[in-house]
Amino acid sequence: MADLFDVSGQVAVITGGGGVLCSEMARALAARGVKVAVLDINEEQAKAVAGEIKAKGGEAIAIAANVLDKASIERARDIVLENFGTVDILINGAGGNKAEATVNDNMSFFDLPMDAIQWVFNLNIVGTILPTQVFGKIMAEREKGVVINMSSMAAFRPLTRTVAYCAAKAAVSNFTQWMAVHFNHNYSPNIRVNALAPGFFLTEQNYYLLVDKETGEPTQRGNQIISHTPVGRYGEPADLIGTLLWLISDAASFVNGVVVPVDGAFQAYSGV
Ligand SMILES: NC(=O)c1ccc[n+]([C@@H]2O[C@H](COP(=O)([O-])OP(=O)(O)OC[C@H]3O[C@@H](n4cnc5c(N)ncnc54)[C@H](O)[C@@H]3O)[C@@H](O)[C@H]2O)c1
Repeated sequence: MADLFDVSGQVAVITGGGGVLCSEMARALAARGVKVAVLDINEEQAKAVAGEIKAKGGEAIAIAANVLDKASIERARDIVLENFGTVDILINGAGGNKAEATVNDNMSFFDLPMDAIQWVFNLNIVGTILPTQVFGKIMAEREKGVVINMSSMAAFRPLTRTVAYCAAKAAVSNFTQWMAVHFNHNYSPNIRVNALAPGFFLTEQNYYLLVDKETGEPTQRGNQIISHTPVGRYGEPADLIGTLLWLISDAASFVNGVVVPVDGAFQAYSGV
């Protein structure tokens, strides 16, 4: 059984690897013998994560890269190949929402600024497609590889207020299916593309919506989420690791083009 989940010696590229969820993935993979390239627009964060991994005896490099700039991703690819020789796993983790693209009492849907909507679309869907073009090409040439995208519960059923994020994550789920089929039809049956759909994890990008900054108490939305999550809590970054290991390993060799909820049953619960 252990061999089925063995990923040691492989090379993983993780975009947004300096962030909350994907830094946990970087640490977890490195602890299992994966060579990890931590890509992030925030170089300091990427360096901190790679440094932490190396301090524990793992193999990691930090690379400053913008998932919206193909030349920047290509430069990152060259550094990865120089250091690690190949790419086996791509985790498209960079993504998120921003307050300016979120409907609130002072900002109606009708007045949401175009640039904020565009920012969210670009980061989540274009920022998933471009790294897949660059690193997926290596997989196509090798006829082997695994891609993991970061979708969201927001893709299954839209959440109130975060209109652009919901639509962009729905696009990430759709692209996951499209890309899985495209690789198999045109390049190899040994390239798989799947996505994680995390439920609610308390992180910087949603903190302003879920915790009252004055009192530190949950907002009404925070309470609604917990009461709609049958497991009764927010997810912890470590909750994603088992599903990630399954999807990137041979244990999932016939699993392709799926979006796996890791959500404490949020998606299963009708509310009644
Ligand atoms: N937190 C949640 O509850 C939750 C739920 C579902 C899905 N997700 C998704 O999981 C992923 C990780 O989320 P997180 O909560 O860890 O977010 P995070 O903000 O902690 O991490 C995102 C990282 O992406 C980096 N980044 C931003 N723009 C970039 C760019 N243009 N190029 C390269 N890197 C860039 C940021 O610097 C940051 O380190 C995102 O795609 C997010 O949408 C999060």
